[in-house]
Amino acid sequence: KVIIIDYGSQVTQLIARRVRELGVYSEIHPCQVKADKIKALQPDAIILSGGPASVGEEDAPKLDMGLLEIGVPVLGICYGMQLLAHNLGGELSQSETREYGPAELEFCGKSTLWNGLGKSSRVWMSHGDKVSKAPQGFDVCGKTSTLGIAAMCDEKRKIYALQFHPEVHHSLDGTAMIKNFLFEVAHLKADWNMHNFAERVIEECREKVGGGHVICALSGGVDSTVVAVLLNKAIGHKLHCIFVNNGVLRENEGEEVVNYLREHFDLNLKYVDASKLFLDKLAGVDDPEKKRKIIGHTFIDVFEQEANAIKAGGVSVKFLAQGTLYPDVIESVSHKGPSAVIKSHHNVGGLPEKMDMDLIEPLRELFKDEVRAVGAELGIPESVLWRHPFPGPGLAIRIIGKITEERLNILRKADTIVQEELRASGWYRKVWQGFAVLLPLKTVGVMGDGRTYESVIALRIVDSVDAMTADWSRIPEDVLAKMSTRIINEVRGVNRVVLDISPKPPSTIEWE
Ligand code: XMP
Repeated sequence: KVIIIDYGSQVTQLIARRVRELGVYSEIHPCQVKADKIKALQPDAIILSGGPASVGEEDAPKLDMGLLEIGVPVLGICYGMQLLAHNLGGELSQSETREYGPAELEFCGKSTLWNGLGKSSRVWMSHGDKVSKAPQGFDVCGKTSTLGIAAMCDEKRKIYALQFHPEVHHSLDGTAMIKNFLFEVAHLKADWNMHNFAERVIEECREKVGGGHVICALSGGVDSTVVAVLLNKAIGHKLHCIFVNNGVLRENEGEEVVNYLREHFDLNLKYVDASKLFLDKLAGVDDPEKKRKIIGHTFIDVFEQEANAIKAGGVSVKFLAQGTLYPDVIESVSHKGPSAVIKSHHNVGGLPEKMDMDLIEPLRELFKDEVRAVGAELGIPESVLWRHPFPGPGLAIRIIGKITEERLNILRKADTIVQEELRASGWYRKVWQGFAVLLPLKTVGVMGDGRTYESVIALRIVDSVDAMTADWSRIPEDVLAKMSTRIINEVRGVNRVVLDISPKPPSTIEWE
């Protein structure tokens, strides 16, 4: 495995992903972790990431020299290169200007990383400091028009350093360089794939669970569906899946997944219709945070009740399964201090302490795209694997103002049309999320010869990679026109459709 030491770069996760895409397992650890701990992980190679600090500055993260003593190949990227230079006797200097963006890297010396490449390569730079003298034992093997030392290596000690970022797509031969590092330098084997992963995790879960039982909240989303199918393969009916209908689901949301799973996977699955309970509690509430809290708490109550019923049947439920993913697990060094609560996200986070159960998180090593690949490996169809994210509080936070049956009906119909048109036009897979929002206002319209005074639907369709930032999707006008026409014609109570063209930040993806 490859251990990536994170010095706080925005793109550290990309390094991990590139390595995994090449078939080698990789893990990210914060730079404060001591070298003996890293050594105990038995890495086959170490990559030092980039970072925003300046080597030598007060508080700047330092290189733990013990990492170099582990005796495995090391690759330093950007800040990682500067750390190597600084600690091994080279010299750094500040560039007059920070350098961002593309540069032409000329291979001016030998390096195993250049195997199979031409004479030069387009790379992507992002740095302020630079190495002005290479440490002893290092050869300068790459330069650009502004950098005398853009890459250096010590082939004997197998230490490599790149000033640019090979992990980003804009570095055209970046993947080839990482590939050379993994296979030509570190002689790793490409055996990380989702087939092996699924087999290993199924086995591990089986062992961990032993004779006990596991419960799992199934939402119909990708993560919980993959968790359920994976654990089902491991422990069969000792997995108790609970699907809670909270009354604010989309049209057929859930039923589709539940029916599909029942048919194909012989899941031990209970469908709990708690919609009346949720809707009663939501009646008259228009404050977004209140809505979120009510739904979160009610969910926990219902889930607890169901779990207790299972336990009352004499079953020993020891674990709660969750679809936690790797990005939630990584302790990033770039997150400084507590951040403000923008929205209270509803998930089952509060459950384990309350219920005295251990967590089982089979996906905690995976990125989202890997989860989808595991799902495909397990035979879950694309239509389930590529479902857009759907928030726990569901349509409640897309109905601005009070939630009523009538308003739910309007939004469900409008939303179904948005989903249908996204799919029909081929845009469903291209966007992160697309949905309808029902606004708390009425406007005047004319239909036939009569005046109407009806509701407004907003379309929220966004592109994103991680939901942290997003931009409104540039959907072709004819697709938008079709959505608008259909919503106005087919949904009673709506006479106007508007398009949300706000990026995040400042505007969050959901309206509440
Ligand atoms: P925001 O609105 O914060 O949403 O920009 C970011 C992403 O998270 C989803 N979302 C939620 N998901 N529980 C969830 O599981 C929640 O309470 C929740 N609130 C928002 C939202 O759909 C978007 O993809």
